[in-house]
Amino acid sequence: MAETAQRTKVQSWNEWDPLKHIIVGRADTTMVQAPEPAVQRNWPEQGFPLGKYGPYPEEMTAKANEQLDNFAKILESRGVRVDRPTPLDYSQAVQTPDWKQETMFGCMPPRDLLLTVGHEILEATMSFRSRWFEYLSYRPLLEQYFKDDPGFLYSAAPKPRLTEGTYKKDFYKKWETLADDEKNKIIESSDWILTEREPCFDAADIVRFGKDLFVQKSMVTNDAGIDWLRRHYPDLRVHKVRYKETMPWHMDTTLVPLRPGLVMFNPVRTPLEKAQQELFEKNGWEIILGPKSVLSKKRPMTFCSIWLNLNILSLDPKTVFVEASEEPVMELFAKHGVEPIPVPFYEVSPFGGGLHCSTADVYREGKFEDYLPKQVDGF
Ligand code: ARG
Repeated sequence: MAETAQRTKVQSWNEWDPLKHIIVGRADTTMVQAPEPAVQRNWPEQGFPLGKYGPYPEEMTAKANEQLDNFAKILESRGVRVDRPTPLDYSQAVQTPDWKQETMFGCMPPRDLLLTVGHEILEATMSFRSRWFEYLSYRPLLEQYFKDDPGFLYSAAPKPRLTEGTYKKDFYKKWETLADDEKNKIIESSDWILTEREPCFDAADIVRFGKDLFVQKSMVTNDAGIDWLRRHYPDLRVHKVRYKETMPWHMDTTLVPLRPGLVMFNPVRTPLEKAQQELFEKNGWEIILGPKSVLSKKRPMTFCSIWLNLNILSLDPKTVFVEASEEPVMELFAKHGVEPIPVPFYEVSPFGGGLHCSTADVYREGKFEDYLPKQVDGF
């Protein structure tokens, strides 16, 4: 095994620079979370009809943990230092002065919570009550990084109140009654569940390209959240993006950079901002379309889409980790000079995602760069 011990340094500017240190999530005690305004789960065949909550079946959790541990080993064998969160008992009820929530969720997808930009790791606000306290799973690591790296900027975005006023009333109930053209109107205007009362965003609604951040307005990220990020990163360019997708949340199966000059789009999620494509073209980037998954349907109890085949993690600009059964993506990458490393990972999907979701960058080599110097006005 390669030597992975190294001095802690927090730094990552983009999704592709050579990876040296990362956090890999755990599936332990993940919950089908108790009902809350922002989340509805409905898996009657697996014993979780609408409103029912409880832990994921033990056998599923064990299989997911096996694949997560294996992925951690593969990363280490490639010289990457791997840290793991400390799971809490996510079956416990939590509360703030504003609300009580019967269960938490888990800590499989650190990407959702932790946003590394430069020397800062920012804890996102999160917009589910079941995920409000998820940051506690990462505090042992972040506290250690703070001790070890004098350059580490340890930050948290303002915790949202998440009162009833944060969510549009009866969003899901109303959605079910809408005709297709009414649904399309909501999709086109990205008028999702969050109100604009307070800034909300998940870290996985952000994709990093050095000086440029793309931030998706979604079911978990509102305009106020995007505005907060703009003010928080005055030296970066924050591009608000939206796609033709029903109830979007998280961008890492939608816009996937591979290296400077090469980006993959999701073929069915048409960008609603034309300027996005223009920006890449203007700067001479090649755009490739992700192929369909080899799967014909999702794993049971999976709240992610079938597009987790595009949820890849870059080891460096020439090497990416890809789910082991996803030959079409691997072939596409190989054709473009990117070597795919297959990693069996589909047992993890029900716990919140793929290879990108299940990780959060701590250190990538490289520096702050402007990869898209020719900007598009108003974008
Ligand atoms: N909405 C995306 C999909 O289902 C999200 C993938 C999960 N991403 C994450 N960071 N948890 O395709």
